[in-house]
Amino acid sequence: MTQPSSQQIIEGQRQDWNRVAGGWEKWDRFFDEQMAFLNHRLVADARLRSGMRVLDLGSGTGYPALLGAQTVGPRGSVIVIDLAEQMLAVAGRKAAALGLPNVTFRAGDVTVLSFEANSFDAVTSRFCLMFLPEIPKAAAEIARALKPGGWVAAAVWSAPDKNPSIGLSMEAIKKVIELPPPDPTAPGIFRLAKPGDLAGMLQQAGLIDVMEQEFLAEWSYASTDEYYTSLMEMAAPIQNLMAKLSADQLQRVKQLITEAVLPYRRGNRIAFPIAVRMVAARKPL
Ligand SMILES: C[S@@+](CC[C@H](N)C(=O)[O-])C[C@H]1O[C@@H](n2cnc3c(N)ncnc32)[C@H](O)[C@@H]1O
Repeated sequence: MTQPSSQQIIEGQRQDWNRVAGGWEKWDRFFDEQMAFLNHRLVADARLRSGMRVLDLGSGTGYPALLGAQTVGPRGSVIVIDLAEQMLAVAGRKAAALGLPNVTFRAGDVTVLSFEANSFDAVTSRFCLMFLPEIPKAAAEIARALKPGGWVAAAVWSAPDKNPSIGLSMEAIKKVIELPPPDPTAPGIFRLAKPGDLAGMLQQAGLIDVMEQEFLAEWSYASTDEYYTSLMEMAAPIQNLMAKLSADQLQRVKQLITEAVLPYRRGNRIAFPIAVRMVAARKPL
């Protein structure tokens, strides 16, 4: 089978994330309550301070860009880039509701940053870089766009067995339809799960003081239904796989997911462990 080109992958990503933008808006409050600590961690790792000019890559509905904008304050600014115009539209409504005039939205591919060299004090990115067909190219662009001494801080998913809320749905689908063996170098949720992968690429790009940590936490849901519905409405890669199923197969997958969730019941909620790879590095002075 011929491999899709980088341009085809990027166009696919744009369509996928535009399709789930409504789901992200619907679940925004829930998602924010569950994952806000990651935004704070990224803001800290990128050393954001009042007055800084910041670039947030693949911000989707505004994470961590909006916290970044609050942190740098009115004397600072955040430029947000994402492929999916509809995700950006949600982020724009949220920025307006929060009264944040210091955020600018740009639709585009983060692999090609059309900014002068040395123009940002910091770069942040949450759950985007693993979807890029050319991550080293993006790393080089980040290194170019950062001012000397500026930090980049990124979060990507660690391994599927440490992230059962994502991994178990993929396992359920695999039990019902045959999927091609995963190509570890293909863009996808777990593309940067391996320790050292992203850190090595940033180092290759000339960044120094590279820090990497697998950050363990958990998120929880009120019910299996809440988990299943939010997953289907937000997780574009899972939605893509589910689209391949007949109505019967879909029922079977839902049944398998419901069973697989049982071990994670805690009291009257479902609590999943999560493992996020946090990577930060800075440009030499
Ligand atoms: C899982 S969402 C994460 C959004 C947000 N940062 C968050 O943590 O909630 C991934 C986002 O990356 C964006 N994305 C994927 N590939 C991209 C690319 N090449 N350039 C820009 N954005 C991209 C998608 O459009 C999507 O909004």
